[in-house]
Amino acid sequence: MSDSNTRAQIVDLIGEEGLAQAFAPIEEASGLPNAAYWSEQWLALEQERCFRRSWVFAGAVAQLPKTGDMKPIEIGGAPLIILRDRAGRIRAFHNVCRHRGAQLVTDACKKPAITCPYHAWTYALDGKLQTRPHFSGPDVMDRFENGGGDKLDLMPVRTETWNGCIFVNVSGDAEPIADWLAPMLARTPGYDFSSIRWAGKLDFEVNANWKLIYENYMEGYHVFSIHKKLLKFAPMSVRWSGEWDSHVFYNDYVFPTLEAGRGEGLPHYPGLSDRDAKRGLWFLCFPHFAAEVFPDQFTVLASYPIAPDKTREELHVFLIGDAADSDEFGAPRTATFDMWESLNHEDLGVLELLQQGRKSPAFDGGRLSPHWEGPTHEFGRRVVERMLSST
Ligand code: FES
Ligand SMILES: [Fe+2]
Repeated sequence: MSDSNTRAQIVDLIGEEGLAQAFAPIEEASGLPNAAYWSEQWLALEQERCFRRSWVFAGAVAQLPKTGDMKPIEIGGAPLIILRDRAGRIRAFHNVCRHRGAQLVTDACKKPAITCPYHAWTYALDGKLQTRPHFSGPDVMDRFENGGGDKLDLMPVRTETWNGCIFVNVSGDAEPIADWLAPMLARTPGYDFSSIRWAGKLDFEVNANWKLIYENYMEGYHVFSIHKKLLKFAPMSVRWSGEWDSHVFYNDYVFPTLEAGRGEGLPHYPGLSDRDAKRGLWFLCFPHFAAEVFPDQFTVLASYPIAPDKTREELHVFLIGDAADSDEFGAPRTATFDMWESLNHEDLGVLELLQQGRKSPAFDGGRLSPHWEGPTHEFGRRVVERMLSST
């Protein structure tokens, strides 16, 4: 359902012409106008409608191995706590005290309960308020055997896990996670994802809008000039534009030989076919869960907007079985992380140039290659469609 107030806000920022471009055929269209990359107001709408209303990757289950392990994360502009409770379950809560609204958890830590740093209200790991000192008078301790109810307990956020990945849906009304992942899984029937284990993560701070990261991620057009090593591994001739299937973008190539960081020296998915053993696939489950599947790995790239021109990026590498942590695979595992670190650095400089270029009043969104950039254009359209939708 379309929402006329939001439409008016969007038109205010990018004009009727800019809005029409998002829906024009690729041959005639430009990319999204500059305001979509610089406006705080635009980003606030994206945070609410693209991020809070969807499933969003919130890290690896393995980052919270023990009861009471917790970490703060901001999703769609909302501060959240992700933790492991006493039953071993991963839970998410809004990271805000029910008293005066202080943020409760600021760093990853392990605690038996969550005590507010302001007036020391204490919440159990299931979010229920336990104790409230001096609230009812000096030296009076309010104790809650079964929590404080809807107005006093921490506010839960919908959470699901899938093969070691944590997802949250802040609005609580996204489709079931299995439906959301289905288009990706339909393309990967030969991969046993129950075999993947978290091997670690890389963090990046990117001085660019979050959309630029995914627009760049989808297209293979820039590989010939930016990624010389990757080009040798998989030349332009094996590449295509990729395509969207519902809200999931998909691309792939078949490569001739394995190399360090991509399939060499690490165990492959059990029972993988010969064809898949020389294949790289990559996905984007809209809005931000990007997954790269090689014969030996499942690597997640997830970006979290901080400001229109600043994005936090996490790259989580999952390997097959023991390869994730055994000494035997130390060297090829390190090679895999090194490969991702250097590949991502090759992109960072260009992403900053794209962000800065969008300061130019002479730039209207540019001309896109119908051969390579159809999916990039569709990504912009999907962002706008989500912003326009009131449901
Ligand atoms: S704000 Fe948390 S106890 Fe007062
Ligand atoms: Fe790249």
